[in-house]
Amino acid sequence: MKGYPQPSLREILKERFLLGAALNDAQIAGQDPAALEIIRRHFNTISPENLLKWDVVHPEPDRFEFAAADQYVALGAKYGLFVVGHVLVWHQQTPSWVFEGAPGATLDPKLLLSRLRVHVRTVAARYRGRVQAWDVVNEAFEDDGSWRKTPWYVALGEDYVARAFEFAHEADPEAHLYYNDYNLWKTPKREAAVRLVTSLRERGIRIDGIGEQGHWLLDDPPLEDIEAAIVDLANAARQVMITELDVDPLPRPEELIGADLSKRVELAPQLDPYADGLPEALQQRLAQRYRDIFSLFVKHRAVSRVTFWGVTDADTWLNNWPVPGRTNHPLLWDRQGRPKPAFNAVVEALRRAQ
Ligand code: G3I
Repeated sequence: MKGYPQPSLREILKERFLLGAALNDAQIAGQDPAALEIIRRHFNTISPENLLKWDVVHPEPDRFEFAAADQYVALGAKYGLFVVGHVLVWHQQTPSWVFEGAPGATLDPKLLLSRLRVHVRTVAARYRGRVQAWDVVNEAFEDDGSWRKTPWYVALGEDYVARAFEFAHEADPEAHLYYNDYNLWKTPKREAAVRLVTSLRERGIRIDGIGEQGHWLLDDPPLEDIEAAIVDLANAARQVMITELDVDPLPRPEELIGADLSKRVELAPQLDPYADGLPEALQQRLAQRYRDIFSLFVKHRAVSRVTFWGVTDADTWLNNWPVPGRTNHPLLWDRQGRPKPAFNAVVEALRRAQ
């Protein structure tokens, strides 16, 4: 492209794996043309950061709101992208009515199951053939591998996951269906995900792959742990995807690695040290981290997709978690949409693999 010197990541990658980014509401509404230009040039798949979540598309029992999601799906079709649906079943961003009983009664599990069925079928059927893959269930396990005691689990037990996959498959038999979670580099959690895939398949329920979200830090998790997770998940599930990639260079208490939204820390100046920009030494560390992880992704053939959770540093959710109001720098493009040293590092890692 004239006046646009960046090599295209997706052209360098060819068909090796899909590469994408999550789009926020403004981008999908066409209010951020610069971000869309990045998408068109560098990526061949998109995910919606928020607008397919339950509270957006299904705010009341008998009310679905599809206008924004329709725009998202249309955008993907217009640019010829692999369109991911995120997410059918989660414990976050789900309206409280979903888990409430009829007036004056406690929640009847049958009622909850029927709400699950209606939601999953309605949403997945609407986009049949146009959303190519769904994150069906998100974050069902704790880091120690036990079931997360979400309202889904408390009312329906483990079976809610199997049922969600069945409903999604009935609604769109061609769609790829995934389980998605963070911290799968932690062995007990990864083993739980592997057991889940194995048991669903033993029961004849379709599941195509596992997504490791990939919310990582500069040094944590260690590369060996990331690689061990890719190998194990690939053996169990065939397709392994890095679905929400970012590398957070800001200070963070160790117990907050991952994406547990129930934990937060108050803003303090020492926790926001790079409000005026990331110093060069840290830009280089970030670049090296991206070089290392992309070298792993190209090494393992089972990696079928890598999706960044955001386009530029201006958009990242990490400006608001775990410390609300920070200035974060976890992606390949800075707040002005300029490629960072990390972008060049990814180019190098991808070129070396050709
Ligand atoms: O929509 C309201 C808006 O009306 C209001 O004015 C504004 C004020 O704060 O909040 C808006 O909602 C925010 C929403 O994003 C949309 O921007 C919520 O407060 C905010 O909590 C929510 O954060 C999202 C988060 O999921 C919580 O569900 C992040 O953008 C999104 O990046 C993040 O994505 C998750 C994945 O789905 C699952 N894996 C972890 C990942 C990161 O947490």
